[in-house]
Amino acid sequence: MDVSTFEISVRKTELSRINQLDQDNIQFGKIYSDHMLQAYHENGEWQNAEILPYGNLSMSPATSFFHYGQAIFEGIKAYRDADGKPVIFRPYENWKRFNRSAERLGLPYVPEELFMDGMRKLVDLDSAWVPSKGQTSLYIRPFMMAVDEFIGIKPTTKFLFMIITCPAGPYYDKPVSIYVDDKYVRAFPGGIGYTKAAGNYGASMYPMTEVRKMGYDQILWMDGVEHKYVQEIGTMNVFFVLGDTVVTPELGDTILEGVTRDSVITLLRDKGIKVEERQLSIDEIVAAHEAGELKEAFGTGTAASISSIADLTYKGKKIELPSVENWTVVPSVLQELNAIRYGKQEDRHNWLYRI
Ligand code: COI
Repeated sequence: MDVSTFEISVRKTELSRINQLDQDNIQFGKIYSDHMLQAYHENGEWQNAEILPYGNLSMSPATSFFHYGQAIFEGIKAYRDADGKPVIFRPYENWKRFNRSAERLGLPYVPEELFMDGMRKLVDLDSAWVPSKGQTSLYIRPFMMAVDEFIGIKPTTKFLFMIITCPAGPYYDKPVSIYVDDKYVRAFPGGIGYTKAAGNYGASMYPMTEVRKMGYDQILWMDGVEHKYVQEIGTMNVFFVLGDTVVTPELGDTILEGVTRDSVITLLRDKGIKVEERQLSIDEIVAAHEAGELKEAFGTGTAASISSIADLTYKGKKIELPSVENWTVVPSVLQELNAIRYGKQEDRHNWLYRI
């Protein structure tokens, strides 16, 4: 039964591209599913919500987000459960976060009927695109932007909301090598660091390219005031296992409230492992390493899931983490998270949304 009170029309593709998908070689973001959702917000209301064949957009070069970056996005994943049915992981959390980002960026509220029902319909229609092998998933990318054809600066009046999806495999194939950046910052108090604003990612491209040239995979961002407290790692939340305690930066306006972050904290606490959400300085991490107390370190995010850290380089000194074969925290939490996602273990926190 269609429970939507919001009319979302569906125009199906005449020719599916599903046979272009190589299930054994899925690269993140390389190929997009057959359909996409789009809806416009104009004159104070959402209109023309439609699921249609995936394709290019045609826009005026004066469209406002090209110039001023008023755009946000989300990342969500659908998995196949033990019966082969597609399930979406904690999408309500992303819907709520999307609207927190929207508010800060001056974009309109997206109602549940559009975000959730639209996503459900889209994933249902393209369910053949939810891969089934190994640790694969369908990555769901909702996004919204200001589309006034106007290059003056004024509050925007026309917006476009869309959802596209793409099959995804593992994001990183090995533990990552990290450069601790004490020059560039990702976020600062009063800014937009807690949102999934496109500009947060755009502003990280140059520093990221520079550290890649130096041979590192990602950046460990420090706070924007004192450049001494750890914040996030690349596009992920970051965790350190110090002795028998897992420490992660506390939430605030510079840290993204990650859904994987919250899931990992919940599962760790379920296991009786102590988790502290607090300020953590790079000096404390260096001291813990010198005392032999830095046991494991990892990033969490929708795209990357849980990504182990091999080493951190700070002020020219390389801190090597113990070999991942000897880790205990990351393997056990990743195993449990995957067991829940793929329906192999009871979903005791009700994280799976069935379409
Ligand atoms: C996600 O994990 O969904 C992200 O936002 C990372 C993305 C920029 C690839």
